[in-house]
Amino acid sequence: MRMPLIAGNWKMNTTLSEAIELVSEMRPGLDRIDNVDKVICPPFISLAVVKELIKGSSIKLGAQNIYFEEKGAYTGEISPVMLADLCEFVIIGHSERRQYFNETGDIINKKILAALRVRLKPILCIGERLEENEAGRTEEIVTEQLRASLAGIDYPGGLIIAYEPVWAIGTGKAATGEQANETIGLIRRNTAKLYDERLAQALRILYGGSVTAANANQFINQPEIDGALVGGASLKVTEFLSIVRQTSEIKGHLSKGV
Ligand code: PGA
Repeated sequence: MRMPLIAGNWKMNTTLSEAIELVSEMRPGLDRIDNVDKVICPPFISLAVVKELIKGSSIKLGAQNIYFEEKGAYTGEISPVMLADLCEFVIIGHSERRQYFNETGDIINKKILAALRVRLKPILCIGERLEENEAGRTEEIVTEQLRASLAGIDYPGGLIIAYEPVWAIGTGKAATGEQANETIGLIRRNTAKLYDERLAQALRILYGGSVTAANANQFINQPEIDGALVGGASLKVTEFLSIVRQTSEIKGHLSKGV
């Protein structure tokens, strides 16, 4: 049975003091919700402080990016070894990284490998752009992104995938539950082909793109969707808590194997 997971991607938002305030407000409510993995992904500069602030709670920590080299002359980058000490998860291949920072399939593949090497759990983001969606190329694009991201990786233990159609990110125009379920089902079948059925059935695949408290149930109710990667709504305490609470109510029993 797959434990549902909600991850909050804070993106490039919150100063250190704002991050402290946000996590302090979220902690009591989040900690009370069981049977869902609750992951928050603040900016790098806040990770160490947030780690202290969630100590003793059930909240887990993730980073938003990683570099693939272990150490050296890579000014401004953060290495897997540095992150392994701080958090459990790392978002890799987000469409904003692909779009604004020219991250290619090859770079993303190296980052996944680097994360797995230090036992960080990658949250690999894949998804088609609007024009690709309109041209009916969704299946082809996500299949190719998955193949490229996992090339040469024997067994991606700990991997989580987030299907995020680019046209739905930050636009307020979410996919429908059925659309997302269909594509996520396809991604699951593809991972079975790349690896085996056991890995595919255990793999958690999230939906991401304009998830809010108002539409979350539409996704969480779908059989293939194991949770959400939430951007904008993860910065609002009541919104985020509501998404996590709904997930626990709808899917929480699955994690207990009932
Ligand atoms: P959004 O972002 O929820 O603001 O659309 C999702 C994401 O980029 O992970």
